[in-house]
Amino acid sequence: MRAAVMHESHQPLVVEEVDLDQPHAGEVLVRIAASGVCASDLHVLDGTSTIAKPPMVLGHEGAGVVEAVGEGVEGLQPGDHVVIALYGPCGGCGDCRAGDVTRCWSETRTQGMYGRMPDGSTRLSLRGKPITPMVGSGSLAEYAVVREAQLVKIDREIPLHLACLAGCGVTTGVGAVLNVAQVVAGSTVAVVGCGGVGLNVIQGARIAGAARILACDTQRGKLDLASNLGATDCLEVEVGADLSAAIKRIEPKGVDYAFEVIGSPEVVSAAFEATRIGGTTIMVGSPPGGSQLKIDGRALFSDRRLLGCTGGQNIPARDIPRIMEFYRQGSLNLEKLVSQRLPLARVNEAFEALKVGKLARSVIDLIE
Ligand SMILES: NC(=O)c1ccc[n+]([C@@H]2O[C@H](COP(=O)([O-])OP(=O)(O)OC[C@H]3O[C@@H](n4cnc5c(N)ncnc54)[C@H](O)[C@@H]3O)[C@@H](O)[C@H]2O)c1
Ligand SMILES: [Zn+2]
Ligand SMILES: [Zn+2]
Repeated sequence: MRAAVMHESHQPLVVEEVDLDQPHAGEVLVRIAASGVCASDLHVLDGTSTIAKPPMVLGHEGAGVVEAVGEGVEGLQPGDHVVIALYGPCGGCGDCRAGDVTRCWSETRTQGMYGRMPDGSTRLSLRGKPITPMVGSGSLAEYAVVREAQLVKIDREIPLHLACLAGCGVTTGVGAVLNVAQVVAGSTVAVVGCGGVGLNVIQGARIAGAARILACDTQRGKLDLASNLGATDCLEVEVGADLSAAIKRIEPKGVDYAFEVIGSPEVVSAAFEATRIGGTTIMVGSPPGGSQLKIDGRALFSDRRLLGCTGGQNIPARDIPRIMEFYRQGSLNLEKLVSQRLPLARVNEAFEALKVGKLARSVIDLIE
């Protein structure tokens, strides 16, 4: 099958033939229909992510159709439409069994983050040598073998090129609001970075009933999209300008919640400074490995909170159906998030578009 393989940092992905084994026990072979390209793919490609381990197949925002199931798979069958969830639970540890899968740091889950099955193996190989799929997904490929626990069945009526966004961007953005921050109706929210993830923080804040949603981005086009999706105010940010002062000109006491959705430690600090006493900052963007955050201790002391947010603390079996329901009811717009659709052969154009930052999401169609 064809897959987009990263061989080296900063080099274009190579679309080439790779081999894929049949699913083992508890695993599922998925024919990928579509995959979004997220900034986290770009962080792997530019070498700032700690999970980069070339050669690897990138992609972690995929949806498709079950082609075959391994022994013991009971919840899915060929023909089912599925979303590949980010960081599926292991299903067996105490935290998973208690329903708190976001606390699961079992070997199964952590191996998966590095693209390996629980026993350290991988089903992918390139010219006879094992290679890994990004976060156990590797959705920029025609097929993927993933653990059953990482898959969520969805309604066939939902187009797969939209459903794939629930693999990462939508689940993370909406989950950051509903699961991590637990935004309260009537509150004030600032969202810094209105890309494929940030736009879903905005949609999540609207769903949560936030009274003011201040969208901040360097790109005018992103702000237009943000207002379309629920932002009540827009702030065109100039790089190097004082972001917290600009937010406080609009909301003088500071906002109740500030979301950083870029992956910049400096912007996390500015977002933190833009919160009111008792306010909460959520770092949704993934900062480079080893980076440090500058936080005023006295400001934190004033009952402020600074929270991390892996995958929007999503519990796939709960959150992905919830997203599909929001979409069905019309409260979550998925169509506007898809800026362009490209065939796999043009995958590098999606990475170029991410670097420029003008588009919300590029989606790669794997079934042409
Ligand atoms: N927490 C998680 O589990 C998780 C999941 C997915 C993505 N992420 C991370 O979230 C971040 C955003 O991902 P994305 O796919 O939405 O990226 P994106 O490139 O689509 O969006 C980033 C946006 O930030 C804007 N921006 C850049 N610099 C800015 C600045 N200084 N001030 C204001 N706006 C600025 C860009 O114009 C763009 O609109 C990335 O770091 C990504 O790795 C984290
Ligand atoms: Zn992602
Ligand atoms: Zn577990």
